[in-house]
Amino acid sequence: MRYGSRGLKTGDLQTNSQYVVGCEHWRDMVLSVEEGVLIPRPETELIVDLVGDLVEGNGELREGLWADMGTGSGALAIGIARILGPCGRVIATDLSPVAVAVASYNVQRYNLQDKIEIKLGSWFEPLKNVEGQFVGLVSNPPYIPSHHIIGLQAEVAKHEPRLALDGGANGMNDLLHLCHGAASMLKPGGFFAFETNGEKQCKFLVDHMQKESKSSFSGVDIVSDFAGNKRFVTGFRAKSHNPTNPNEWTVKIN
Ligand SMILES: C[S@@+](CC[C@H](N)C(=O)[O-])C[C@H]1O[C@@H](n2cnc3c(N)ncnc32)[C@H](O)[C@@H]1O
Repeated sequence: MRYGSRGLKTGDLQTNSQYVVGCEHWRDMVLSVEEGVLIPRPETELIVDLVGDLVEGNGELREGLWADMGTGSGALAIGIARILGPCGRVIATDLSPVAVAVASYNVQRYNLQDKIEIKLGSWFEPLKNVEGQFVGLVSNPPYIPSHHIIGLQAEVAKHEPRLALDGGANGMNDLLHLCHGAASMLKPGGFFAFETNGEKQCKFLVDHMQKESKSSFSGVDIVSDFAGNKRFVTGFRAKSHNPTNPNEWTVKIN
């Protein structure tokens, strides 16, 4: 489980030092945070690196429309917007009004309001009018199994928003929902990257995709974080659906 944090004792309550100082360093940025918004974690930074590697050699991805679903402080949306080309855009969504307010503040702080649009709403719902137009989707959704929340460090369990953490009985509710919707949101060849709780969730998700939507995706990959833990499921919307080509579905595990 990666939900550790830097705790600080204030009075008799342990809280996060980032909520006390009101910001967190993430990549080369300083992002405002407050209670009600998840403090962005270092492992999530790798998603920006993955996108960076991908867009470097691909003009369509560099200049296209991306989504960061469940944006929290806006970390992924801002990180990605800064590496896109002049026409590249990001839509960042969140169900939490506090997250939307904090992300909007951070977007303005980095003067990216022309590149990032922030929308309030649940997962794909605020993106309906741009369905099928995305070249990339990223998300670090809630993925902690409900019964594990109580066992998290006190400053996480008590002070970070449950909406950002709780992924339902086995932690997979939101990840599965995102997988189901990804194919219809992405253009053919579009990229997705979803963060998970670890190896078990990565494998569950890949197995599920293979069973339920094998022909929709290609190049599905499990990517490890900086600590060597299998953390992300990535892949592409298939360019064409060819049921006679068994190689269209490939899983590479790094
Ligand atoms: C684990 S946090 C990730 C925040 C941020 N992307 C990051 O990496 O620091 C998950 C985020 O998903 C949001 N969220 C939870 N349920 C949602 C839903 N149904 N639709 C959109 N966002 C949701 C939470 O409010 C929270 O900001």
